[in-house]
Amino acid sequence: MRHDALYLWFLANPIAPRYVGRLRLVDAGKGVSLQYGADWLSTGFALSEDLLLVDMEQLPRWKGMAVGAVDDARPDRWGERVIQCIDKPARLSIMEYLFYAGDDRFGALGVSTSADAYVPRAKSPLPRLAQAQHLSEIVQKVSTKEPVNDAERRMLAAGGSFGGAKPKALIEIAGEQWIIKFFNNEPIDVPLIEHASMTLASFAGITVAQTQVVPLVGEHALAVRRYDRHGTTRIHCISAGTALRAQTVAGQDAELGYPGLAQLLRRAGVAEEGLNLRDMQELFRRMVFNILIDNTDDHEKNHALMVIAPTRQGKYRLAPAYDVLTTNSGQGYQEFIVGNAQRDSTLSNAMSQCELFGFTPPQAAAEVVRVIQVVDGWRKHFAACGVSWADLDSLAQRIDADPLLGQRRTFNPADYVSPVRLRRRSPFS
Ligand SMILES: Nc1ncnc2c1ncn2[C@@H]1O[C@H](COP(=O)(O)OP(=O)(O)OP(=O)(O)O)[C@@H](O)[C@H]1O
Ligand SMILES: [Mg+2]
Repeated sequence: MRHDALYLWFLANPIAPRYVGRLRLVDAGKGVSLQYGADWLSTGFALSEDLLLVDMEQLPRWKGMAVGAVDDARPDRWGERVIQCIDKPARLSIMEYLFYAGDDRFGALGVSTSADAYVPRAKSPLPRLAQAQHLSEIVQKVSTKEPVNDAERRMLAAGGSFGGAKPKALIEIAGEQWIIKFFNNEPIDVPLIEHASMTLASFAGITVAQTQVVPLVGEHALAVRRYDRHGTTRIHCISAGTALRAQTVAGQDAELGYPGLAQLLRRAGVAEEGLNLRDMQELFRRMVFNILIDNTDDHEKNHALMVIAPTRQGKYRLAPAYDVLTTNSGQGYQEFIVGNAQRDSTLSNAMSQCELFGFTPPQAAAEVVRVIQVVDGWRKHFAACGVSWADLDSLAQRIDADPLLGQRRTFNPADYVSPVRLRRRSPFS
């Protein structure tokens, strides 16, 4: 089936899907546009800040993408591989990826072949936790491009095309949807280390998605509870990249970084009870934690915003942290901009724009000290999570070696006391 036009739906309440508009393949097959429908124009909301409620076809502002928030409704590398292997569409454009991502995709958007009814790609029920071993074997086959039979295809088709690069699928645990991330033959036990890193982050005042280690034969997998599902309702979510690009002039390089995201939260986060300030300050802790734990893979899709009050001015909350783990790369720079020294993985860089996160320098320095204390206990915590001695030693070569250990040891909050305010002399005295 070739889809040159598809239809976008909003599924916050999946029992009553709402038609949003028409998607069309543009840019010689490399982009996807959106034209809102009349009803959505009068009663809907802008899906992202660059998709205003205007009665015209909205074209993608960057090459190779779908417009605004629609781009977050498609899978990326792993999901694309599953679609290629399971659905085998005759053509592989963004349109096919948007369609075959299916009903369980990230966020609350849905893609249908009809503008009159929500008709997503057919699906079977999600596999249960008890089927995780079998699911991992199917995922392994997809990873190595081995053929899969019909029953295997059905099992993975249920929720196998989620985003990200690593092998994963959706499963059901006690009636809730979880993402299960599988071991991918890395030299260290990545699923267990992700669990250990995420739970360690929670001790540093970071809200994390709930994780659960799933023991399989000879390896672990990691289940991560979905934050974009709440009982039977779905939460419209956008990646940090989409949110930051939306406030950037078309085609220009967006400032993809922590300070920019903090400022976006200040402007468009939920101001009631100072929630936006809380999110900004938490983002600072996440940045410092990622630096110290050597999580350098903190790219634009590894931070997300939940659009909790779409029709209000203040609408975004920072989604819980996910995909937080020691990448063991020691590359010395982050994927997301940190401060004045751009992406450098240093605490002085993190401190350099701390006011943009709503902190005075002494307050920010106190937060850094708090995160350092938590990271100082990483080895004990990881060991308690069951991480092997060999893996601990491997991680220690990054976390407990220079430059990261040196930064933990030499950070001095006294370097960040606020300058004494000089009394301004009146020019008339
Ligand atoms: N708990 C969650 N709830 C909802 N969506 C999630 C959750 N965790 C991750 N996601 C979504 O799924 C995508 C892939 O997940 P994740 O980043 O954990 O996978 P990955 O393969 O490790 O990614 P990467 O390509 O960054 O290595 C994320 O970019 C995010 O959009
Ligand atoms: Mg990721």
